[in-house]
Amino acid sequence: MKVTVVGAGAVGATVADNIARKELCTELVLLDIKEGLAEGKAQDMMQTAALLGFDTRITGSTNDYSKTAGSHVVVITSGIPRKPGMTREELIGTNAGIVKNVCDNILKNSPDAIIIVISNPMDTMTYLALSSTGLSKNRIIGMGGALDSSRFKYQLSRGLNCNPSDLNAIVIGGHGDTTMIPLIRFATWNSVPVTKFLTAEQQQQIVNDTMVGGATLTKLIGTSAWYAPGASGAALVEAIVRDEKKLFSCCVSLNGEYGQKDICLGVPVIIGKNGWEKIVDFGLSADEQAAFNKSADAVRNMNNVLKSL
Ligand code: LAC
Repeated sequence: MKVTVVGAGAVGATVADNIARKELCTELVLLDIKEGLAEGKAQDMMQTAALLGFDTRITGSTNDYSKTAGSHVVVITSGIPRKPGMTREELIGTNAGIVKNVCDNILKNSPDAIIIVISNPMDTMTYLALSSTGLSKNRIIGMGGALDSSRFKYQLSRGLNCNPSDLNAIVIGGHGDTTMIPLIRFATWNSVPVTKFLTAEQQQQIVNDTMVGGATLTKLIGTSAWYAPGASGAALVEAIVRDEKKLFSCCVSLNGEYGQKDICLGVPVIIGKNGWEKIVDFGLSADEQAAFNKSADAVRNMNNVLKSL
């Protein structure tokens, strides 16, 4: 099994680090346009192999896509990250060209790869990856919802003073500060609805804190976060290479599901060896569906910007 991570910045390197520690593949290629960066980070990670005891072989490459040939899964993290105060959407002009170019180069060398998109604005970059490559829709997966759902569980664990792993919770819609929809009505603590333990104000606070989860970190750190985005990317790789059939919220192409079409947006999907294999209908309430439609409108506006670039 071979996996490529494009972009050796903080997020890409963290995806790679998590993949290696979990031994999700035998061969892992880290690629970046900046001379030496991917080679250096790959070597640094390989120098942890004897300490951590993993067998994955990590190599780095400066923009030589022939090294990525035959990859089963490719994670795209390329592009500029957010600065404090910036929205993910403000990155579109720069990142659209980068993501399109990366997709072209990847598919020349790995025509059968499943592609995971992390670059922002993630929903629009996923849509771009799908429309520019013409790949079958199941092979393009945007990572946002997996990350936002993990952040939602973290915020819930603080509100409930419980272990995040005991929670089930999902965020659908766009991966934007105002477009994501933490579905608190469906969230449970070991199968008991969390709404039983939290006041309406506490619930609202948790939802609000989840929605600005990425922006809060950007303000604190001075750039975009990487530990949770990296772990989320690796979790999706794991679900694919181990054919786990796990349910994640991911940004996928909708064709009437959840009342939307010609858009990529976060919904519950099953992830396995074929990429995203099935969309699961949670049965939204009228309010939740209205929020989903509003999120779709905002993402569609962003997708329309692609046409003007
Ligand atoms: C974040 C970026 C990766 O939410 O979108 O941290």
